[in-house]
Amino acid sequence: MKTGSVFRIGIATSILFLSQVFPAQSATGAPFRDPVPRARAIQDIAFGSCLRQERPAPILESIAESAPDLFVFLGDNVYADTTSEIVMNQAYRKLWEKEGFQKLRKKTEIHAIWDDHDYGANDAGGDFSFRQQSERIFKQFWQIADRSPYQDREGVYASFLYRSAGSHPIKVQLILLDSRSFRSPWKEKPWWKSLLGLGNSGPYVPDRDPDLTILGKEQWEWLRHQFSVQADLRIVASSIQVLSGADGWETWSNLPLEKERLLDLASSQPSPVVFISGDRHFAEISALRYRNRVFYDVTSSSLNQPLDFGEEENPLRRGNRFAGANFGRIRINDSRASWNLDLQILDQAGRVVLNERYMP
Ligand SMILES: [Fe+2]
Repeated sequence: MKTGSVFRIGIATSILFLSQVFPAQSATGAPFRDPVPRARAIQDIAFGSCLRQERPAPILESIAESAPDLFVFLGDNVYADTTSEIVMNQAYRKLWEKEGFQKLRKKTEIHAIWDDHDYGANDAGGDFSFRQQSERIFKQFWQIADRSPYQDREGVYASFLYRSAGSHPIKVQLILLDSRSFRSPWKEKPWWKSLLGLGNSGPYVPDRDPDLTILGKEQWEWLRHQFSVQADLRIVASSIQVLSGADGWETWSNLPLEKERLLDLASSQPSPVVFISGDRHFAEISALRYRNRVFYDVTSSSLNQPLDFGEEENPLRRGNRFAGANFGRIRINDSRASWNLDLQILDQAGRVVLNERYMP
């Protein structure tokens, strides 16, 4: 073989090698193994949050009857609030024993992320001492051992790739974020609370310190890679609200630089992005125009513990706020080449109470 052809083969091999490894490698050198392609074709993606395991949860039966293709538990999936493995396992066992949970589990594919109460403490972040134990219990319960990208990774984030079920199928990427394991402390509004060790109870104020983070360095790097994957639609699940700047509560707006970073990333690529979130004990659909794009955040909470704290101002809200028990649903309408979405909130009886048509 001539030197020239060896050289050309060398270059071709290098390009092949780089294209396979370089864009998909994490800081630790391990390749990103997700999004994981899933065989199931999907039309309805349902989701919900904030389930009190010691209370009845008839809404789980309604969700099972509505037969979604996926269900995403968006956090506070149990109220464990503990640093005892025994107590945390007991909380999950109560959820497991619910007939509605078993019906849903057998009928649909389930995913889960966590929020503070199943993480183990109110409004807790990356400095929570019990986080490794609660992560192990979370991964055992949600049977994440058979989902390779989760199992070795610190934290509970992952990404999956589906195709939609209609006559003009689209590629749908489901991105699940971990907003707890790596999050910096929020800034308490009353300045003396942190000094007295009374943190993690709010109200909070926005903090523009550039060193603070919600996702942490590695998850950000992973997320940048996820947004480079070819998909027609990305659904991004965050336990806490992404768009609403609800005064004083746990939202991405508490760290405005992180929120901008997320929206910049979402705007820097062509695929439509819809956020889904929970945590708030009411439901609402927010929409924000940002860099000539429109982003939605469909918030569904609570599955069986609705609380009405009174009216809350949210200039981004579309339509009304719904304060009864609820779940959310994204319906993909892809019977024509120009697909669209119905972003919905449904009540305990499975009736649609909020609906926004999203035309990408
Ligand atoms: Fe929460």
